[in-house]
Amino acid sequence: MTTASDIREKYLNFFKEKGHAVIPSASLVPENDPSVLFTTAGMHPLVPYLLGEKHPSGARLADVQKCIRTGDIDEVGDYCHHTFFEMLGNWSLGDYFKKEVIAWSFEFLTSEKWLGLDKNRLAVSVFKGDADAPFDEEAFETWKSLGIDEKRIAKLPKKNNWWGPAGDTGPCGPDTEMFYWVGDPDKVPESFNDDSPFWLEIWNDVFMQYNKNLDGNFEPLSQKNVDTGMGLERTLAVVNGFDDNYKTDLFWPIIEKIEELSGKKYQGDLIKAMRIIADHLKASTFILGDEKGVAPSNTGQGYVLRRLIRRAVRYGKQLGIKLFTKEIAKVVIEMYSRVYPELLKNKDFIFDQLTQEEEKFEKTLEHGLKEFERGTSPFILFTTYGFPIEMTKELAAEQGKEIDEQKFKEEMEKHQDLSRTASAGMFKGGLSDAGEENKRLHTATHLLHQALQDVLGVEITQKGSNITAERLRFDFTFSRKMTDEEKKKVEDLVNEKIAEKLPVQKIILKKEEAEKTGASHAFGDKYGDEVSVYFIGDSLETAWSKEFCGGPHIENTGDLGHFKIVKEEASSAGIRRIKAVLE
Ligand code: SER
Repeated sequence: MTTASDIREKYLNFFKEKGHAVIPSASLVPENDPSVLFTTAGMHPLVPYLLGEKHPSGARLADVQKCIRTGDIDEVGDYCHHTFFEMLGNWSLGDYFKKEVIAWSFEFLTSEKWLGLDKNRLAVSVFKGDADAPFDEEAFETWKSLGIDEKRIAKLPKKNNWWGPAGDTGPCGPDTEMFYWVGDPDKVPESFNDDSPFWLEIWNDVFMQYNKNLDGNFEPLSQKNVDTGMGLERTLAVVNGFDDNYKTDLFWPIIEKIEELSGKKYQGDLIKAMRIIADHLKASTFILGDEKGVAPSNTGQGYVLRRLIRRAVRYGKQLGIKLFTKEIAKVVIEMYSRVYPELLKNKDFIFDQLTQEEEKFEKTLEHGLKEFERGTSPFILFTTYGFPIEMTKELAAEQGKEIDEQKFKEEMEKHQDLSRTASAGMFKGGLSDAGEENKRLHTATHLLHQALQDVLGVEITQKGSNITAERLRFDFTFSRKMTDEEKKKVEDLVNEKIAEKLPVQKIILKKEEAEKTGASHAFGDKYGDEVSVYFIGDSLETAWSKEFCGGPHIENTGDLGHFKIVKEEASSAGIRRIKAVLE
């Protein structure tokens, strides 16, 4: 059987042979990009480089990126949709373009030396063209020259063959997608049919050559990029000839554990419940165990995590299992910690949070389900019994009923300001258009970080950062509430540095040299061999603030305005959270 490690290794080796530098997976929680809650694709952490910033590792990159997609949570349960997945990606930042990447994709998929998939079961699609961009003739001709029959090359509109931007604005472009026939190998149809579930999409090569701006226009980017994404879970199933991703080594040990705990088999009606539990608890383990680990809560990423854990617990009930989430997390950590060592490092946090959340929900689940049967409102089910609205909706749907979501929202708004839950959406606009405001808050975050070290002690470390249109948020290790005096000192110090109108500069260094500069780096982050360091001051030696960072930043602190802390609170045990604004 081909394992996940075999494929990760082959993929990275293939692209190393083609001159790519392998870069580590970024965190699941995007830093400095308020447009999404989680990293949903490999392109996310690379947005600044797609827009033209120079990447420290060069113009050809390859990686395996951990991703979370929340749009599919309710679809999970079929054989191929997952909340957490790994995306194999290769990148050209203004280097090679369509011809090269299509030929490489074809070689990697079909050559015996690599995946060795059957050419005759391959089909592709290309962008058919519209008012924003022309028909992708180059992609079409390249596939033909590689021996793909025209009947197997579909020309499709933007809805199918265009990727991005990840938020409302940002880098995007036409793509070409590769499909593999997973039906009967003796009955491969002559033509590709977009509607058939047996043509499974396995890889997507995106030609990121446009930037969608705030007006909704597509401007050509200064450089033409390639962003490819291949889902590891699907590819692994396809290579093994399995019709179920859960039978691969990326899931099967979890399913076996569920079978053992429940004394039931992965078959018939129970398949869906077991898949949901396996998927959701794997995703939860990764969110909790991330370098920027998040705890369950009622907003943002924490709310998604809460939904995942609670939905898994509810399906556990169907299998007759209780207090099982930690047992599943143990298996996930065992399976993945060689590739993602942060899981092992954060295992106590993972176990504690899962157990707490599960115990809390266990207390109200039974009662809540009875209340649901009695027709209690979604609002009461949420506030009293902790049922996420999506769960109530799902319960209702199982009985062919609908709930009044609008009413729920209104009641919630009256009850508290819930405008920032996952469903309400985050700040509209991606990194690129958030533009100047975002950069200013990002630079202010660096100033705040250094000011905290000066005032509270050098041992404080960054635990997370997030920027919206209105404010910055900074999490750091510190064991107690800050006094008013300390907060004032930090504010004054930041404002002093703003008044000094210091230049903000970047230098790219070998990792060891960068470490010697004493620049701070986010707790637990992984870095490539070369890193960029942003420093604030006239020279690297004399700079007041130095940080490992991908940018972007404004050029001078003089453009920041007045810095003000609006909140200082506990985020989780040993972690404080500051929210601050620029006025
Ligand atoms: N960004 C594209 C995707 O997510 C290719 O990596 O499919």
